[in-house]
Amino acid sequence: MSYEEVREVDPAVADALVGERSRQEHTLAMIASENHVSEAVMEAQSSELTNKYAEGYPGSRYYGGCEYADDVEEIAVERAKELFGADHVNVQPHSGSSANMGVYFATLEPGDKILSLDLTHGGHLSHGHPANFAGQLYEVEQYEVDPETGRLDYESLREHAEAFEPDMIVSGFSAYPREVEWERIQAAADAVGALHTADIAHITGLVAAGEHASPVGVADFVTGSTHKTIRAGRGGIIMCDEQFADDVDSAVFPGAQGGPLMHNIAGKAVGFHEALQPEFEDYAAQVVENAAVLGDRLEEHGFSLVSGGTDTHLVLVDLRDSHPDVSGGDVEDELEEVGIVLNANTVPDETRSAFDPSGIRIGTPALTTRGFDADAMETVADSIARVVDNLGDEDVYADVSDTVDDLCEQYPLYE
Ligand SMILES: Cc1ncc(COP(=O)(O)O)c(C=O)c1O
Repeated sequence: MSYEEVREVDPAVADALVGERSRQEHTLAMIASENHVSEAVMEAQSSELTNKYAEGYPGSRYYGGCEYADDVEEIAVERAKELFGADHVNVQPHSGSSANMGVYFATLEPGDKILSLDLTHGGHLSHGHPANFAGQLYEVEQYEVDPETGRLDYESLREHAEAFEPDMIVSGFSAYPREVEWERIQAAADAVGALHTADIAHITGLVAAGEHASPVGVADFVTGSTHKTIRAGRGGIIMCDEQFADDVDSAVFPGAQGGPLMHNIAGKAVGFHEALQPEFEDYAAQVVENAAVLGDRLEEHGFSLVSGGTDTHLVLVDLRDSHPDVSGGDVEDELEEVGIVLNANTVPDETRSAFDPSGIRIGTPALTTRGFDADAMETVADSIARVVDNLGDEDVYADVSDTVDDLCEQYPLYE
């Protein structure tokens, strides 16, 4: 895309769009929730469907002229069903957070109880943080990972559920590097008569490709984002059994949203098609392998990984052992100077503040989309280690910047 049309109307925004494209081309995107969608997904997202109002659902809309909107939404739903094996799918949530809102509105009353993972242990705002609607509408208690192992403690989760008697247990996480045993969480929910939402926002692509166990058919509800590991149009998705279908659909519209973002739903449909191709399984396997290689190499450089490794698309580095005087925020800033973009993150038993925590979260989905293999990931790990071990050393930064440039040239984006 040249953005010529935008430039004619609005040079300031055209500059920003060109700048962003260049930033993505010339830096390494290692924010675990990000990815690079295909040009086909981008084209669908920028289609004329952005003009269309289609409140309601296929075949039952509040507006005329919805035949193509219906086609696109039906295609997206069918493909999601095929990808995940879900009975019922709603592709209208504007985001992963909105998908969670849809499930809560379908099942909970204000004041009902949610049990979810603490944000600083890897949970998400929309699971009940006080700053989020979920924390304001519902009574929330939070479980934690085991501080020794960095892993979920299913036994203590079950005990917590027995004591708190929640209406909803939320699982699925933002910064948890290990495979989740969905059945054990569902069993804890069943034992206390709670519902269970598995939020697979981060790992949707890994689940679709069979690289991570699927909660579909196990958890009562599965929610997710569609633009992270699954690389489809930006937004959210809800999956559930037929018994909850009507409640979920009416909670999303008219309960929480107005007109669906039909252009994004077109992008979801195209991305789901891509995820149904055999190459996507190779991609997802490479994402996981790359994360493992990255983690191993960082450990060789003396870094500590929360839980001692990863089974997923991300590693969570706890800087306190290897670099006690350095915060995650410092590392995030300094790595950005050399073109490596990732985020500071809290770690279990955080001793700094959430604004400048002790960890960094590093993800491989976007680089794997560019074609990075295990060797390239080792080079990236070496580069990260060099910067963190030599903070402020301009010669090192210049050298690592050159390495980043070489990698970007070797693995181009949007040829
Ligand atoms: C577990 C989890 N749920 C929900 C979300 C929210 O997704 P979105 O940004 O699409 O609202 C995120 C975002 O990263 C997440 O990690």
